Amino acid sequence: MNDDQKLQPEASGAHSQSAWPQAGQRLTFWWDVKKLEERVKDGMEAEGGSYTRHPSQFAAMALQEAAALLRSGDTVAFPTETVYGLGADARNTAAVEAVFAAKGRPADNPLIVHIARRSQLDELVQQVNGTAEALIQAFWPGPLTLVLPVRPGVLSPRVTGGLDTVAVRMPDHPVALRLIAEAGCPVAAPSANRSGRPSPTLAEHVREDLQGRIGGIVNGGPTGVGLESTVVQAGDDGTVTILRPGGITAEQLAAVCAAVTTDPGLDGEAGPGTPAPRSPGMKYTHYAPLGRLSVVEGPSPAMVTGLIRRELAAAEASGERTAVLAFDEHAADYIGQRVYSLGSLDTLQEAGQRLYGLLRRCDEDGITFILAEACPPRGLGEAIMNRLLKAAGHRVLRADAANE
Ligand code: TXA
Ligand code: MG
Repeated sequence: MNDDQKLQPEASGAHSQSAWPQAGQRLTFWWDVKKLEERVKDGMEAEGGSYTRHPSQFAAMALQEAAALLRSGDTVAFPTETVYGLGADARNTAAVEAVFAAKGRPADNPLIVHIARRSQLDELVQQVNGTAEALIQAFWPGPLTLVLPVRPGVLSPRVTGGLDTVAVRMPDHPVALRLIAEAGCPVAAPSANRSGRPSPTLAEHVREDLQGRIGGIVNGGPTGVGLESTVVQAGDDGTVTILRPGGITAEQLAAVCAAVTTDPGLDGEAGPGTPAPRSPGMKYTHYAPLGRLSVVEGPSPAMVTGLIRRELAAAEASGERTAVLAFDEHAADYIGQRVYSLGSLDTLQEAGQRLYGLLRRCDEDGITFILAEACPPRGLGEAIMNRLLKAAGHRVLRADAANE
């Protein structure tokens, strides 16, 4: 695609753009692909006429255009089942560099490569051991990323950040799978946010962060899991090491492998004496809202809600604009406060889906002081607590008898 064509967004019916670029910015295409199929009325217009589902011509055209942009070496954001990714042809160094530039991402943080077919994996990596094979069978397509020995020369060295391994996943999202298959190349894609901002769970979040900096955005509606994939390394002995907790839980992994451990570099604040995390991205502060966020935990819900109420009142008295991220079970304890719901403690999937959107909402609402209830770090709670603690810069308030 040449520059003239890029400046004529109305030339094809499949895309639209919402705003002309500001000075110094480029044009970012926008495709709405919420449905890959559409209901079409068959036969006579008579009342009660039947409907059947057909592939959406519009969606097919939009994805062809987006794939052509990727193939041409440009950047395209697309939905996955976890969060939106910012994609580029993983073999093309200029394209991969454009991803780092658009995000403002540190160059030593390697990218995940996304594939649509199992056979693509064998082109990228030297070997898939039995443990990795079992994980692929159990969880692909899905929110699990495998770190495997990279085949030299097949990917841009900028993707792997100089490591001899590559992180690969097959996303479980029809739009992502169609786009990657159509592009016909491995697609490097970090989350499609500006570095340091919460990951995007809506195409509108991508637009907020990257409009004018990237080639296009495919809008496939809200993502499902809402947190990034679990990144693991699979040992030859059947053990699995979690480098980043995510959409597939330790319990799910344990059901298909001999033992699951968590990278000791993962927990806690980076500092002298702490081992470096094996997933380079985990050492950076992420997801931070503009307001000061702290996580509150304690031995009983009543002690936690009590401490939160007192802290919010004190912050308000000193002029802060406050909010609490709370589970529905405790909402009634915060009457009169600005409460953002994380859903029920019984269904942590809701907290996963909502967390990043709520952190962005806090910024939009001008919140300067935020407290978040902790949840048990089991199941999906491990990933939720990992992201919350990173967003809070590891600030934790502990409710105990001393501050009753
Ligand atoms: O759900 C996801 O994984 C999303 C969607 C878009 O697929 N992607 C995503 O990518 O979260 P990103 O770039 O934001 O996170 C990639 C993580 C980082 O923590 C990075 O350090 C780690 O994967 N990683 C990448 N390559 C690695 C490697 N060779 N060894 C260890 N960790 C690696
Ligand atoms: Mg990210």
